[in-house]
Amino acid sequence: MASMALFFLMLCIPTLASASYNDERGPPPHPFWRRSNVPPQGYFDPKDNGGSLLTQVPGTFPAGLGEPLNVIMSANSDSDVLKDQETDGGLRNYFLSLGYSSECLGQHLGDDQGANLGDGNGYLNETAVIRWDYGDAQLGSCKETIEGGAHFRYWVQDGSKADR
Ligand SMILES: *[C@@H]1O[C@H](CO)[C@@H](O)[C@H](O)[C@H]1NC(C)=O
Repeated sequence: MASMALFFLMLCIPTLASASYNDERGPPPHPFWRRSNVPPQGYFDPKDNGGSLLTQVPGTFPAGLGEPLNVIMSANSDSDVLKDQETDGGLRNYFLSLGYSSECLGQHLGDDQGANLGDGNGYLNETAVIRWDYGDAQLGSCKETIEGGAHFRYWVQDGSKADR
């Protein structure tokens, strides 16, 4: 269980309320940030709201040992990469470009870990486990599942207390 929990904090792009365009003053000059309470660094610090930058790994002794969340992808990233999709420059497309694929044939094997991103959702299991694909984006992650190797988990910070 020498896995490393790379932590991708992803944030939804705020949807613009159409009501603001009916305002006589017209649309705000920078609607994204004006309507957003996301801090300038592009994410909410999980620790500010009861969360943690450590995951919880079930079955550890003493209980509650975790792995560090190592990477934060902020809301200031290119909007394409903040979409959880494998095409058009989406997040999984980006993972593919680094040699990492979604789990083999849609199957999920291995332990789940919980992370509390301080977004009001409490501890949630990872959104997905992404595995080194041994140069084969189609089936390589199957080999990783069986033989082991590099993989990471990610979570999305999108709960009601840290969204928009
Ligand atoms: C996380 O996954 C475990 C199984 O690995 C499950 O027992 C648990 O209920 C899940 N937790 C949440 C919050 O979904």
